[in-house]
Amino acid sequence: ISVKNVHRTGFHFQPPKNWINDPNAPMYYNGVYHLFYQYNPKGSVWGNIVWAHSVSKDLINWIHLEPAIYPSKKFDKYGAWSGSATILPNNKPVILYTGVVDSHDSQVQNYAIPANLSDPFLRKWIKPNNNPLIVPDNSINKTEFRDPTTAWMGQDGLWRIVIGSMRKHRGMALLYRSRDFIKWAKAQHPLHSSPHTGNWECPDFFPVSLKNTNGLDASYRGKNVKHVLKNSLDVNRFDYYTIGMYDTKKDRYIPDNNSIDGSKGLRLDYGNFYASKSFYDPMKNRRIVWGWTNESDGLPDDEIKKGWAGIQAIPRKVWLDPSGKQLIQWPIEELETLRKQKIQLNNKKLSKGEMFEVEGISASQADIEVSFSFSSLNKAEQFDPKWADLYAQDVCAIKGSTIQGGLGPFGLATLASKNLEEYTPVFFRVFKAQKNYKVLMCSNARRSTMRQNEAMYKPSFAGYVDVDLVDMKKLSLRSLIDNSVVESFGAGGKTCITSRVYPMLAIHNNAHLFVFNNGSETITIETLNAWSMDVPKMH
Ligand code: FRU
Repeated sequence: ISVKNVHRTGFHFQPPKNWINDPNAPMYYNGVYHLFYQYNPKGSVWGNIVWAHSVSKDLINWIHLEPAIYPSKKFDKYGAWSGSATILPNNKPVILYTGVVDSHDSQVQNYAIPANLSDPFLRKWIKPNNNPLIVPDNSINKTEFRDPTTAWMGQDGLWRIVIGSMRKHRGMALLYRSRDFIKWAKAQHPLHSSPHTGNWECPDFFPVSLKNTNGLDASYRGKNVKHVLKNSLDVNRFDYYTIGMYDTKKDRYIPDNNSIDGSKGLRLDYGNFYASKSFYDPMKNRRIVWGWTNESDGLPDDEIKKGWAGIQAIPRKVWLDPSGKQLIQWPIEELETLRKQKIQLNNKKLSKGEMFEVEGISASQADIEVSFSFSSLNKAEQFDPKWADLYAQDVCAIKGSTIQGGLGPFGLATLASKNLEEYTPVFFRVFKAQKNYKVLMCSNARRSTMRQNEAMYKPSFAGYVDVDLVDMKKLSLRSLIDNSVVESFGAGGKTCITSRVYPMLAIHNNAHLFVFNNGSETITIETLNAWSMDVPKMH
């Protein structure tokens, strides 16, 4: 196996070679799903950015086409950066994207339209001559002015978009309005902004239903909805969101009281997942979010050797939790068509220090769903009040999977070598805090590889899981394992964590999967279903 391929993923979205970053303008149009993405046609590091284009009927098998948008005009000569698609009411798609106009990264917003609507794949895109549509006025920092959203239409018939920006370290979602999609005027106030959050990249603004898990079109106007504003924070490279109310009279978004902006807020994923973008899928009446997960092997040298860098996370259906306080995300159901050999376990007890191997599937490329239960919360460790100010990730660094606990740590040891020289544990650990229990979910890359390389990024990614264990003494976990990816969904998708890892021993047939319990409370595996995963068509 060559260096090139050992960590290449099987069922995550990837072009045949080169660098990729942000997913752009995902959309469903006339029976076909489109995904565009930031791509370097000339190499495996960031640069020469064009909009690569792939199409699919099922979001799993893909056909890679020629780049749809590439620098060629004055208004995008130095780059065709991120943007979004809107399907206009006459069933015509239009893309808004950021053009870079000089070597200082000055940014404007452009549009592109399909050259031929009867081409089922919409291969060719035209950038009309009346571009750019939007140039920054004097109040705007022109190097922080990018990534237009999908447009939505207000009751007044005006289209609206937001564009990510920053002023004096205040992140903002600048609001623009237009009647004809060509002439855009900046609103007096941003849709929303927040101090000390840095530049907001790739904003995403969409309604979610308070009633069910169905998705809503960006322009949906009705009762029983909340809105979500997601921003990618340049300062720490994570995707944060708030849930709130869209005041359509003032044209402002107001996050709910307990929903905060910035690095203490909610994340779509507590691991390696950035620049995400969602779209409404009218075929299946759902909202789907795509996110970019970059390499973590540290040195650009590795990327050059591999000849590729970056993947897209598995597309996730996203909806509002019944509590109204957070989103839920779950891999799209189509992923299940890749499930092959299956093994199943029921009612297996794991007492303190026990560990067993899940055999009979390919542990380097698998989908595992497991539900754990326990009979009491009495043994939960005390939550140190000092940790209240730490990020979950820091607590996971202190309380790793091998540090014995009370209720937990229990979970999966993924991409493990036979003798556990390498493994990436994904696990829960329950703490008793002053007023409640705190459930930590951790995906720890510390021991993921034997490779000695200082630049290697091996974070102990973690997030808390907002579940009531007093009523239901259960926790579920799903992990998608794909050579160098461990993408996990805790408690049915309440907390998601994606880790990129680069084992040296635990590769292909030498990868193993274990279930472990290092807590003193006995854990029952109520059910464990695990499948080897097939490789879709992706060329
Ligand atoms: C986010 C980002 C965007 C920009 C694009 C350039 O990763 O920096 O803000 O449009 O990537 O490739």
